[in-house]
Amino acid sequence: MKNVVTTGKIDSMNSSILSKKSIPDIDRSPEILYLRPRRLSEYIGQKQVVETLKIAIEAALKRKEPLDHILLYGPPGLGKTTLAHIIAEEMGVKITITSGPALDKGGDLLGILTRLEESDVLFIDEIHRLPRVVEEFLYPAMEDFAVDFIFDKGVHARSHRYRLKRFVLIGATTRVGMLSAPLRERFGIFKGLDFYSVEELVEIAKRSATLLNVPIDEQGAYEIARRSRGTPRIVNRLLKRVRDFAQVRADGVIRKEIVHEALRLEGVDEQGLTLLDQQFLKTIIESYGGGPVGIEAIAATLQEETDTLVDVVEPYLLKIGFLIRTSAGRKASPDAYRHLNYSLPGRGYGAALQESLKFK
Ligand code: ADE
Repeated sequence: MKNVVTTGKIDSMNSSILSKKSIPDIDRSPEILYLRPRRLSEYIGQKQVVETLKIAIEAALKRKEPLDHILLYGPPGLGKTTLAHIIAEEMGVKITITSGPALDKGGDLLGILTRLEESDVLFIDEIHRLPRVVEEFLYPAMEDFAVDFIFDKGVHARSHRYRLKRFVLIGATTRVGMLSAPLRERFGIFKGLDFYSVEELVEIAKRSATLLNVPIDEQGAYEIARRSRGTPRIVNRLLKRVRDFAQVRADGVIRKEIVHEALRLEGVDEQGLTLLDQQFLKTIIESYGGGPVGIEAIAATLQEETDTLVDVVEPYLLKIGFLIRTSAGRKASPDAYRHLNYSLPGRGYGAALQESLKFK
């Protein structure tokens, strides 16, 4: 758990070959150089989410009140943590960061809650993995800004209500369906983050290249964006690897051909699929005849955690239509067969697929 105060301002640039000139008004030391946007005005994509957060923040500031509790959900790497930092920055308050699995006792949470000041943000990542006892401890904290403390046991048991400052809870989860109804109902604002468009990811790649002081051309940015699985975190990761390659094997400028070569070495294919994505689909095709097959069986064959497959691998494969989820299990789509150079199984495949889709 750490306390974070975010400060500073970052400009965005949009020239074709971006200059190597450093941006004068930001501190470039590694600790401070975040690629993450720090204000809503710098945030690219998720337009509807950003717009509604802007309104909620402006209204809360006008009324001099804390925000409602906020639940952010969606696949990893789409900006849930970034938005929590931005919200705290926009409100001018401190943010305290923890996660569901890190809070294994109610007492841990009590310590954190009692240190929060009026309007401070408490960010709980992976909130769906909060232990049940801690979750129940959180209900009165969220609703009444109080926690009930029990002293002694049995007939001597006494309860004491401890008042808290009016804090703002921001919960983040990749599995909104796993949240209990009582917890879900205590959030006033729900925002789902979706995969980014290639155009948005191009903007993010160019912005990050500027901050990293690396020149990139339009097609280089497009090529990184197109292969980043709709995810800003992946844009930034690939950008750094391509930068290394460009600086060691070329003239330092990120162009389309450099991206091709660098990503081939990284094992990222034409569609942006990683080795794990490919192995996931190949397992369904080779070991289970294209499916339907249960996720547990795929996880056992791949010797991977089911959670990793469900949270990290599946959402994008579903989004691009390479994976189909049916009541009977997972199936590889004809597009997945084509992408991985497998011939489609038997003539009955299309009809079987149609049939399975009816039960989706
Ligand atoms: N870096 C990572 N995500 C970003 C976003 N959504 N906007 C701007 N820069 C980013």
